Amino acid sequence: GKSKEAEFNSNRFLSIAHRGASGHAPEHTLAAYKLGEGMQADYIEVDLQMTKDGVLIAMHDEKVNRTTDGSGYVKDMTLAEIKKLDAGSWFNRAYPEKAQPEFEGLQVSTLEEVIETFGKGSRYYIETKAPSVYPGMEQELVRILEKHKLTGQNAQSSKVLVQSFSQESLLTMHDLKPEIPLVQLISYSKPAVISDLELEHIKEYAIGVGMSHTKIDRSYVEQVRHHGLLIHPYTVNERADMERLIDWGVTGIFTNYPEVLEAVLKKK
Ligand code: G3P
Ligand code: CA
Repeated sequence: GKSKEAEFNSNRFLSIAHRGASGHAPEHTLAAYKLGEGMQADYIEVDLQMTKDGVLIAMHDEKVNRTTDGSGYVKDMTLAEIKKLDAGSWFNRAYPEKAQPEFEGLQVSTLEEVIETFGKGSRYYIETKAPSVYPGMEQELVRILEKHKLTGQNAQSSKVLVQSFSQESLLTMHDLKPEIPLVQLISYSKPAVISDLELEHIKEYAIGVGMSHTKIDRSYVEQVRHHGLLIHPYTVNERADMERLIDWGVTGIFTNYPEVLEAVLKKK
């Protein structure tokens, strides 16, 4: 049979709605995810944190402060406490020109609520955030994905990709459920350099890599592709950057503006 990466390589270019269409609506709310879907994104990106009572929620930061009207760490709050927070009004204040009355009072969503809202017709690009803070988060993620039959029998039939900056978290996922396709995120503080050995090591458990688009060049993209790995740079919001990265051969893009990427892809 075809290898995991061959199956993915035969797929078309992937548009990933970063935190939902988060350029237009408060990140990680159902409103932002719905907009992403409407803008033809292939994947909804969901960052995960875990509550004190062990529930996986869609949130980027370890603290609720930036994206809600509350304060404190997710790990110290129960889901009931987090459900009382307003996850939309901050956006209206930060971006008055994009403000919508319906964003006020939006709730933080659990991963299960996201899946129950969008179902098997959608695809989810899920990130285990701060996995060292949340022992057992991978087991809980697998439990939810299995319950909703999103894992599939092979990489291509999987409705989910799991990404993490933590190699340990991805290796745990790989042990628990090897058929789920994984993407290794890499944080670079300087222009990106990677060895062929590192890429071959990543290939033992992952189908691709993701990193800031600002740190890579054409030769980096070609090196990754030469190893048969996918490459999904984040977070690409400008048309000219999208065009350049596509020309370099990236296989997908995380964007806060999926409609801009859709327009670029249509022109091709
Ligand atoms: O997951 C890709 C990208 O989202 C990683 O950065 O901080 O936005 O989760 P961050
Ligand atoms: Ca992310």
